[in-house]
Amino acid sequence: MPPRIAQIRLVSSHPQVYEPCDDSFALVDALLADRSKLLDHHPSICMEIGSGSGYVITSLALILGSGSQNSHYFATDMNPHATKVTRETLEAHGVHAELLTTNIASGLEKRLSGMVDLMVINPPYVPTPEDEVGGSGLSSAWAGGENGRSVIDKILPVADSLLSDKGWLYMLFLAENDPLQICLQMRDRGYGAKIIVQRSTEEETLHVIKFWRDPDIQMEGNESVSGGKTAPQRGLDFLRSQISRLSFRETRQ
Ligand SMILES: C[S@@+](CC[C@H](N)C(=O)[O-])C[C@H]1O[C@@H](n2cnc3c(N)ncnc32)[C@H](O)[C@@H]1O
Repeated sequence: MPPRIAQIRLVSSHPQVYEPCDDSFALVDALLADRSKLLDHHPSICMEIGSGSGYVITSLALILGSGSQNSHYFATDMNPHATKVTRETLEAHGVHAELLTTNIASGLEKRLSGMVDLMVINPPYVPTPEDEVGGSGLSSAWAGGENGRSVIDKILPVADSLLSDKGWLYMLFLAENDPLQICLQMRDRGYGAKIIVQRSTEEETLHVIKFWRDPDIQMEGNESVSGGKTAPQRGLDFLRSQISRLSFRETRQ
């Protein structure tokens, strides 16, 4: 029986730490939707960038549960109050992670290079003026600069360098971040992409996208094609139709 993630207790909070919200719930729902795949994946090193309250990394550890006794967890946040709240949330649920107050993953890049099997990220994604990005207050939890992409575009190359050959990344985006263009950029790095959760609230349209290193993309030049398209190209067409279908529905509402 899956753990009751909804019962994660907010044992700790701080006025400058982001409380779990629709985006946090969407990311955890994506992990729950993929639970059996995650259990089969046997990730050794799991990591969250931007852990905030610790809700996501704690949920992940509970989802993987005893099936992943050999998993080691890391979480970073640039906000020292978030690191403290994350520690207290983890401890209250009997889970341990190495925590680091740092920018993205600075200080871990050498140590974990090519080693992370599972990464989860709910980044600051809201389009804002550039000077709001990375401030010291709570707004740095959501302020994403132009198109909400300033922090996202810095995180993606770091994620690429940390992920192992079998590494999976689950990352949350807003429609305004242009997730399709992000998928195309990741494709240039050799990643396949799939939407695991897409959700519209009154205020925003959220996508949780899973990325994985796809050997077929690297092989594309040599691959035999079916219907004039390779498998990764067909995957991308499907992704494109999913994203545009949702955007179309949004603009009509
Ligand atoms: C949208 S909140 C998500 C918090 C939590 N993961 C959740 O889903 O509820 C983004 C988090 O990223 C952190 N953050 C923002 N920029 C960062 C950076 N450059 N490096 C590390 N953490 C960052 C913020 O402090 C905040 O806690």
